[in-house]
Amino acid sequence: MGKILVTGGAGFIGSHTVVELQNAGYEVVVADNLSNASEKALERAAAITGKKADFYKVDIRDREGLGKIFAEHKIDAVIHFAGLKAVGESVRKPWEYYDNNITGTLTLVDVMRTNGCKNIIFSSSATVYGTPAFVPITEECPKGQCTNPYGWTKSMLEQILSDIQKADNEWNVILLRYFNPIGAHKSGTMGEDPSGIPNNLMPYITQVAIGKLPELGIFGDDYDTPDGTGVRDYIHVMDLAEGHVKALAKIKEKAGLKIYNLGTGQGYSVLDIVHNFEEASGVKIKYSIKERRPGDIAQCYADASLAKKELGWEAKYGIKEMCEDSWRWQKNNPNGYND
Ligand code: NAD
Ligand code: UD1
Repeated sequence: MGKILVTGGAGFIGSHTVVELQNAGYEVVVADNLSNASEKALERAAAITGKKADFYKVDIRDREGLGKIFAEHKIDAVIHFAGLKAVGESVRKPWEYYDNNITGTLTLVDVMRTNGCKNIIFSSSATVYGTPAFVPITEECPKGQCTNPYGWTKSMLEQILSDIQKADNEWNVILLRYFNPIGAHKSGTMGEDPSGIPNNLMPYITQVAIGKLPELGIFGDDYDTPDGTGVRDYIHVMDLAEGHVKALAKIKEKAGLKIYNLGTGQGYSVLDIVHNFEEASGVKIKYSIKERRPGDIAQCYADASLAKKELGWEAKYGIKEMCEDSWRWQKNNPNGYND
């Protein structure tokens, strides 16, 4: 197994995974329409690894465009990150989300099978658990009701890919359910570069720290959690990247259909994150308590022991490094890849 197609490889998790794949000796081809990314991320990745990924600016709904990639490369497996991911936007533009994520994946999978490539690793999310039936969440936890179209695309795509694998056992499908990815590459040259005002906690905090935003609003302090603020399982993006390299090794063993949580197993509240960030950066974060955000849950953290047992993977980085690395990226690149 040598050549990997990474869809969405110019994005946050994709670009960090490109680095880890190249470090592990894989040849990497990237397909990305750059709707939420900059090609600069791939230049930075190349500067780190000394290897340039073959880049195709293509939309995964473009059958011919994808076909060209498979005609020009013998692809052994696809790591499929490409998708739209903004929860609030998905509520306003459901059609666009279903079209991009579901039509896109159906097209990708069809082009794959036409070209005899039946190995896929899919970016799913802990969002498929809805309000989790229990924490820590194991893969046995029943899937729940999603609160937005983005979440439903993940839940539906899990079902679609599972059905495809069940109907044709030449397929190897690994569904990776990420918890909350934060952090950045240690070099400080790659990281998360959200467009507009960030929706997620860590990029919001780093933009308050750099002075681009006046203060953090904490969405509720009356949850049933130790300090009343929401608890999540934050995971370093380089740990996630490593999880994909391990999942590829599993694919080689003819995995069939597998589902893994990728989290640390440790929950942190919003206030924990604020305090850890302040310590790591030396910058005070101004905040005020706001109303709960619709759709938010009190707590969500993983039992990641299955990934440890079956993939030999576990998260290496703690919250301190996650905060330090997020800050280094933000400080060195106040305007993300536009700097
Ligand atoms: P991202 O937006 O940085 O990366 C997604 C990439 O896909 C972008 O580079 C974008 O340009 C590209 N893309 C989108 N639609 C495309 C299309 N139709 N054709 C080609 N390229 C397209 O997001 P990310 O945080 O790196 O997330 C990667 C994947 O992981 C996504 O599928 C996301 O839903 C999933 N995920 C992310 C998180 C998170 O918190 N970041 C959590 C769980 C799951
Ligand atoms: C959200 C999405 C999830 C998606 C994930 C990554 C929802 C319901 N879930 O997860 O589907 O996979 O992002 O994109 O939207 N917070 C604040 N102030 C802020 C931002 C966040 O207090 O400005 C709090 C939230 O209430 C939550 C925690 O910080 O308790 C983490 O929020 P966020 O980073 O947005 O991730 P999730 O909501 O867990």
